[in-house]
Amino acid sequence: MVLTSDLAAHAERLGKVSLRTLADSGETRSNRLLARAAGIEFDASKQRLDEAALNALFKAAREAGLEEQRDKLLSGGVVNPTEDRPALHMAYRHGARISGTPEAELVDRTQAQTRAFAETVRSGDYAPSALPIARVINIGIGGSDLGPRLVADALSDLAGDGPELRFVASLDPSDLKQAVSGAEPEAILFVVASKSFSTQETLMSAEAARDWLEGHVGPERAGAHFVAASAAPDKARAFGIAPEHVFDFPDWVGGRYSVWSAVGLALEIGLGPDLFEDFRAGARDMDAHFAVAPLEENIPVLKGLIDVWNRVALGYPSRCVAAYSARLGKLADYFQQLEMESLGKSVTLDNRPGPTPGGALVWGGNGTEIQHSFFQWLHQGRDVVPVDFIGIARHFASSDPRERALAANMAAQGAALLDGRQVDPEAEPLLAAHKSMPGGRPSNTLLLDDLSARTLGALIALHEHKVFVESVMYEINPFDQWGVELGKVLTKGILDGEISEYDASTRALLARTGLIQD
Ligand code: F6P
Repeated sequence: MVLTSDLAAHAERLGKVSLRTLADSGETRSNRLLARAAGIEFDASKQRLDEAALNALFKAAREAGLEEQRDKLLSGGVVNPTEDRPALHMAYRHGARISGTPEAELVDRTQAQTRAFAETVRSGDYAPSALPIARVINIGIGGSDLGPRLVADALSDLAGDGPELRFVASLDPSDLKQAVSGAEPEAILFVVASKSFSTQETLMSAEAARDWLEGHVGPERAGAHFVAASAAPDKARAFGIAPEHVFDFPDWVGGRYSVWSAVGLALEIGLGPDLFEDFRAGARDMDAHFAVAPLEENIPVLKGLIDVWNRVALGYPSRCVAAYSARLGKLADYFQQLEMESLGKSVTLDNRPGPTPGGALVWGGNGTEIQHSFFQWLHQGRDVVPVDFIGIARHFASSDPRERALAANMAAQGAALLDGRQVDPEAEPLLAAHKSMPGGRPSNTLLLDDLSARTLGALIALHEHKVFVESVMYEINPFDQWGVELGKVLTKGILDGEISEYDASTRALLARTGLIQD
C-alpha cells in the first residue's frame, strides 16, 4: 500500500484535531474502535482516527487484497515465496481451515510423541541417571527461546508440580552456569531447541552443557539427558541425540512462530501437556476469529491497520508495549522479535523498493515499573510513540487493592498520554511550561479477561495475524529474515581469521583486542 492520497488527507486533517475531541466525539466512533474475541477486548478509542479515516483504511485494505491474502495464508498457500513455502504454524493449533489436511495428520503424530514424552518425564519414570528429572533447561535463541521463555514466565504459577524450567540463550558462559546452578546434574534434562540445528550460539552452548554433564554423570549417561526440537532431525541425531528423542517439525513453521510446535517441548514438560494444550486452544480461538470475522470487527485486522496508520500515515516510527502484569515480563521482547524480524524489510514481494519503511521499532516493558523509568520520555519528549497497554480485566474489580491499583495506573497513563495537561502560567510563572504536557499521544488498551493459558495463546496469535495484516499493506514477505545472515557470515570470518576484506576499523579493533593478529 502506497500511502494513498485519501489516507494522507485524513492524516493531515486529523493531525489538527485534538485527541480529546476525537475521544469525546461519541459512541458510534468508540464502538467501531472496540472489538472482542477469544477472551480479549481490544479498545482503540484513544487512536487518532475517526469514522471517515477508518473507512479509508478498510478500503485500502480491501484494495490491497487483504481478504484474499488472509485466505491464502490460512489455507496453506505459498505466502513465503523467497523460501518457497507456506507458513502453517496454525496447524499446531489446528486453527482455521487446516483440520483434516496432511499437515494436520503430521502435527497429530508429532504432538502425540511430545505429549507422551512429557508425561513420562513428569511422572518421574524418565530417569537416565537414576534421579527423576527436576529441572528442564531449554537451550535455544530467537524464536527457539523467546516463546518458551515468555510462556514459562506467564504460566508457571498456574502449573501444578513439574520440573522447574530454565533457559540458556547467551554465549556468555555464565548463562549456562546460572541455569544449572542449584540442581543435581543427574536430575537435569536439556532440550536443545533449534529449527536449523546449525545456530552457532545454540550449538556451542549445547556442546558446553554436554561437556559439563559428562563430567558429572559420565559420557555413557550424558546423552540421555539431551533431547532436541528441530526441523533438521538429521543434524540433531548427528550431534549425538538419540533418534527417539529428536522431536521434529516441518520447515513451514517459522522460527518466531514455533512455540506451538516441538519447540514448546520444555513447556509441555514443565507446565504439563494439558495446560500447554489450553495455550494452543486460545490461539485456535483467535485463528477462528481472524478467519471469519468481517474486517471491521476483526481484531487482528483492526490492530494491524491501526499500526499501519500510525507508522505510515502519521509517521510514528516506534511503538511501545506496556504490559501490566509481572507475569508478562517477556512480552515486549517476544513481540519485538515477532514484529521486527517479520516487518523490518523494505523490498516488496515482487522485488521493488518498498513503498513504506516497513514495520515500526517495537520496545517496552512492565507497568508500573516503566512509569518510573521511560514514561517521562513518552509524556514530555518530542517524539510521539503510540502505546499498547496490555492488562488484565479482572484486576479492575479485584478484591486485592494492589491489583486494582495496577489497573488504575494503566488507565491513568492512557488518559495522561491522551489529554496531557496545561498548567496556567499565571498561577505558576516559573514552572508552568515544565509541568505542562502536550498530550495528543495515542494508545490502545488490550484487556485479557484473565491471564490464563487460553488468553495468552489468543494474545500471541492475535499479534501473529496482525503482523501478517501489516505485511500485506507493506507488500513485504513477513516470513523470511535474510537480514540476519550477513552478521553470521562475518562472525565466522573473524573466528576463522579471514578478515583481509574487512574494513580498517574492524581489523584494527580485532588486532588491538587480541582476537586476531592482523
Ligand atoms: O535470528 C535468525 C533466526 O533464524 C531466528 O529467526 C530464529 O528464531 C533464530 O535465528 C534461531 O534459529 P534456530 O531455531 O534455527 O536455531
